[in-house]
Amino acid sequence: MTSNTDLNDALMARARRVIPGGVNSPVRAFRAVGGTPRFVERARGAYFWDANDQRYIDYIGSWGPMILGHGHPAVLEAVTKAAEQGFSFGAPTEREIELAEEILSLVPSMEMVRLVSSGTEAGMSAIRLARGATGRAKIIKFEGCYHGHADALLVKAGSGLATFGHPTSAGVPPEVVQHTLVLEYNNIDQLEQAFAEHGADVAGLIMEPIAGNMNFVRATVDFTRRCRELCTQHGALLIYDEVMTGCRVALGSAQSVYAQAIPGFEPDITVMGKVIGGGMPLAAFGGKRAVMEQLAPLGPVYQAGTLSGNPVATACGLATLREIKRPGFFESLTAKTRRLVDGLSAAAAAEGVPFSADCQGGMFGFFLLPQLPQNYTQVMKTDGERFNQLFHALLDRGVYIAPALYEAGFVSGAHSDADIDTTVAAAKEAFSLLPK
Ligand SMILES: Cc1ncc(COP(=O)(O)O)c(C=O)c1O
Repeated sequence: MTSNTDLNDALMARARRVIPGGVNSPVRAFRAVGGTPRFVERARGAYFWDANDQRYIDYIGSWGPMILGHGHPAVLEAVTKAAEQGFSFGAPTEREIELAEEILSLVPSMEMVRLVSSGTEAGMSAIRLARGATGRAKIIKFEGCYHGHADALLVKAGSGLATFGHPTSAGVPPEVVQHTLVLEYNNIDQLEQAFAEHGADVAGLIMEPIAGNMNFVRATVDFTRRCRELCTQHGALLIYDEVMTGCRVALGSAQSVYAQAIPGFEPDITVMGKVIGGGMPLAAFGGKRAVMEQLAPLGPVYQAGTLSGNPVATACGLATLREIKRPGFFESLTAKTRRLVDGLSAAAAAEGVPFSADCQGGMFGFFLLPQLPQNYTQVMKTDGERFNQLFHALLDRGVYIAPALYEAGFVSGAHSDADIDTTVAAAKEAFSLLPK
């Protein structure tokens, strides 16, 4: 198969004239890997087709939401019916209650939940809620974890240990991030030091339980336990950002996975997105009743949204959650993802390519490194040039993985064993082309 990007090139040239960088979210621009982004014409099941009618096996699934694959009949039917009843009312609907009930039943650490339209909005609101509920200002986050593009969270670590961070974006004044402490993921000593110095002022600690924004890096069980203990001890709220992992790594989300190793483990606030909207703009944040009742209109923490709980988006999310709850869905998804990861590992080994990979439920990641990294600094050791060669060799063979080294991958219920075996065969060829 040869790559044929002419119509994609033409669309990109046109897009660049009217949209900054030609895209509405930066990573879509292929800046990291080079070449022309594929403009998607249509998608079905595990595939999408680009402007040249070239088919790709899709391992991004809209960056996580499409856990059933594209155009699942039950979801299509629910969305079509909802659209016929009306797009948006700005008044409450029964479906919002149904979705809230469904989310709470899957993730019982939440007693109440508020629906919003994007993960960014949910993360930003969770931080405001933690600050409002505790009356404190400081937030702890970890390098390599992404929580959306709210000002206070666009921060990188300072030069010393446990120092306050620097903005990672122009337009974010240093004063706005002065209360955000950035620490190394999986570093218990640094965490303890930060709480020893600032514990009384920390409103919340926000973390990705399995960091999908530095490819795929799990928080260790010990680190997770310590995060929980220190938050409890110092009266800070543990905020689990499960926008990516929520209903994706397990039906009960990553917190259910960690609760198996840490009995009774629960975060205080959970941020959800992606899968719960099934591909529509929908996200949520929730927690214990006493914390959630701090939100307007009950409490003093303001949060609102014209399109929050949108009737078409909630229909899409509900139909998606009802499908993934079916007996055997997650077992099958997990087995497929495992088949992919094992296949890729074997192919890399056969071609003598240093490789490590991990997965949970329907989410996976791999590194061109002999061992799985534990934090962002280790992730950065991956050879970006080799990754880019691999990316393009896969793309040329009809396999679409994230166009950046720092992103996780996603398998859907629509991927067949044959799709996965085709992918592994393509990867074996791609590995063989990498410089030794
Ligand atoms: C863990 C995590 N939190 C928050 C976000 C932001 O979500 P959104 O892109 O819907 O604003 C993302 C997006 O990828 C994410 O992966």
